[in-house]
Amino acid sequence: MKVLIFDTVTSAVEAVADRLAGKVAGKPDCVLGLATGGTVEPVYEALVARYEAGRVRFDQTHTFNLDEYVGLEPTHPMSYHSYMARHLFDRTDFRACNTHIPHGNAADPAAEADHYERLIKGRGGIDLQLLGVGENGHIGFNEPTSSLSSVTRLKTLAPETVRANSRYFEHQSDVPQVSITMGIATILQADEIALLATGSNKAKAVRDLIEGPLSAMCPASALQLHQKTEVYIDAEAAAELSLRDYYEAVHPGGKIGHP
Ligand code: PGA
Repeated sequence: MKVLIFDTVTSAVEAVADRLAGKVAGKPDCVLGLATGGTVEPVYEALVARYEAGRVRFDQTHTFNLDEYVGLEPTHPMSYHSYMARHLFDRTDFRACNTHIPHGNAADPAAEADHYERLIKGRGGIDLQLLGVGENGHIGFNEPTSSLSSVTRLKTLAPETVRANSRYFEHQSDVPQVSITMGIATILQADEIALLATGSNKAKAVRDLIEGPLSAMCPASALQLHQKTEVYIDAEAAAELSLRDYYEAVHPGGKIGHP
């Protein structure tokens, strides 16, 4: 695991955007795994800026999002379909037929989850997966105590996740309780992973995911089993790391490479 600590949120975000854009430049028809949430919004903004400047194009790139709320129509403003359209897809040249998000409004959501897992495999798997992390250590909607071997399935959201998401909904009763999410094993099958976490509210989750123990109580700690994971964090999110000096010596300023 590469622990990359940046002075500012902006520099961490720019590094993640460079990582994604670099992957697409090197392999235009690559398969990206994408995430939603407040943390990755500026990453999409940075990708749109690179697209508008003519530095990257996405017309051959495939995407699979991590998750979607069960029960929301894709057109619902709080659905992850809407989020992705608003922040990335409608502002760039991604082709609709190449972008995939679970259908939370499927008549049979469990069958939709199985289908989604097969779709990912059928596409040859994910080349580079972008991740955020929840304050409770979730990745996707794999809440604490999720099986570390889980695949795409239905998952009931933890109360703290429902609370965190409620800021986006007008009425508490509208906040979805169930999601379709890639599983932890699904995520671990990605060739490469880039996780972004910023802000002091993520410091504990960042410590638990990097320094362990490996535990279903912190689903993101499963990334310790993955060979090519990079964790991009700002100074605030790095605050609780016990080996921070070591990480900063290995990757000064978040630069990849050995000193
Ligand atoms: P956030 O969500 O970026 O909105 O904090 C991250 C997550 O829950 O994975």
